[in-house]
Amino acid sequence: MSLEIEKTIVLVGLMGAGKTSIGKRLAKNLNLEFRDSDREIEEKVGCSVAEIFESFGEAYFREMERETIRHLLLDLPPHVLATGGGAFMDEQTRNLIKENALSVWLRAALDVLVDRVSRNDSRPLLAQGNQKQVLERLIGVRYPIYAEADLVVDSDSGPHYKVVEQIIWKL
Ligand code: S3P
Repeated sequence: MSLEIEKTIVLVGLMGAGKTSIGKRLAKNLNLEFRDSDREIEEKVGCSVAEIFESFGEAYFREMERETIRHLLLDLPPHVLATGGGAFMDEQTRNLIKENALSVWLRAALDVLVDRVSRNDSRPLLAQGNQKQVLERLIGVRYPIYAEADLVVDSDSGPHYKVVEQIIWKL
């Protein structure tokens, strides 16, 4: 694919929207490197996101997230970056992304999210109660903010390559 990509493509959206798997595929299609902010934080701190939440609290995690995304956007050449679901909710991180990247919101319906997150129980916010109720509440709070992303692509239950095609078409 010979698209001229001048800015990092940042994927935002709720847990289960497919940011990591779609991001990897997108990066491959565009011949770009793929990064995942959660994985970068885990490597830096030396433990899992769940352990960071438990030992240091969410505020510390958000600070690490802000610094990690700043470094990736300002110091690395254009790449595809999957962010954690709360990253774009942080005003400073959001502004950083708006100023230095092209953001894509992977929008997914509640049932699709519930189905996808049920395969992985490592997410601290979902351990706080009924997964469907938590996601429903987060949809209410976060979707109006995710809508500020540059592009919106629906990430439904179909194959990921179709979502990647949609993103590339919109780029
Ligand atoms: C979070 C989403 C997670 C991770 C952390 C907090 C959130 O990432 O960053 O558990 O606030 O929505 P994924 O969206 O990749 O699951």
